Amino acid sequence: MNAAPFHALPAQAAAAHVVIEPSILYFGTPVVLLSTENEDGSFNLAPMSSAWALGQTVVLGLGREGQTARNLGERPDLVINLPGPALWPAVERLAPLTGRNPVPSTKAKGCRFEPDKFGAAGLDGEPSHVVRPPRVAECPIQLEARAERVRPDVHGTFVIVEALVRKVHADPRLLVLGTDHVDPAAWSPLVYNFRHYFGLGPELGHSYRTETPRRSAAEQ
Ligand SMILES: Cc1cc2nc3c(=O)[nH]c(=O)nc-3n(C[C@H](O)[C@H](O)[C@H](O)COP(=O)(O)O)c2cc1C
Repeated sequence: MNAAPFHALPAQAAAAHVVIEPSILYFGTPVVLLSTENEDGSFNLAPMSSAWALGQTVVLGLGREGQTARNLGERPDLVINLPGPALWPAVERLAPLTGRNPVPSTKAKGCRFEPDKFGAAGLDGEPSHVVRPPRVAECPIQLEARAERVRPDVHGTFVIVEALVRKVHADPRLLVLGTDHVDPAAWSPLVYNFRHYFGLGPELGHSYRTETPRRSAAEQ
């Protein structure tokens, strides 16, 4: 085993790589909690990490058999809630749960039905402004959205959802004071990295395209 983690080593010439066959390709993406509406008017909450933004559209990859995919196929309103690193235990409490009853055979071993995911996670719902499912109060960033397209992936195992964001809510302590900019030094996503949870380390640098002023409300 290396004395220092790989990411802490100085930049170096590429080593001779080996070919591997990993069972998963979760190379480190932010966790989001999706709130959606069930057929009986109650609300489901599910963690997922196959999410990324294209302008105002967020693309989501969801297991076809899950309650979230089912809900979005029939009721397109959702909230994409972004937890910070401290919320990882609540996320993990949701991990073995599904809002689907009976539990589909394709679900991971140990998965069980839970009709009250907010309660099971210990998270609070707060009303949304333009969609029916509630926001997760503890999540510092919340995106109210509508699934405009839900279609199967190439294997038919997943659905790919294109959700158009309609309203963005942010904890004001994350913002550069007096602006709509989220301060990247104040915000950290919760990152799902090969099934382990991480926050971000210190800033390494920034893009030439950054438009963010440096001062955050948290520093005032
Ligand atoms: C951190 C984390 C990330 C996950 N990422 C995804 C994902 O990107 N896509 C997916 O379909 N399921 C993902 N899952 C699994 C779902 O949360 C799980 O299948 C859950 O049962 C879905 O709930 P539902 O059936 O009520 O929708 C993830 C779980 C965790 C804990």
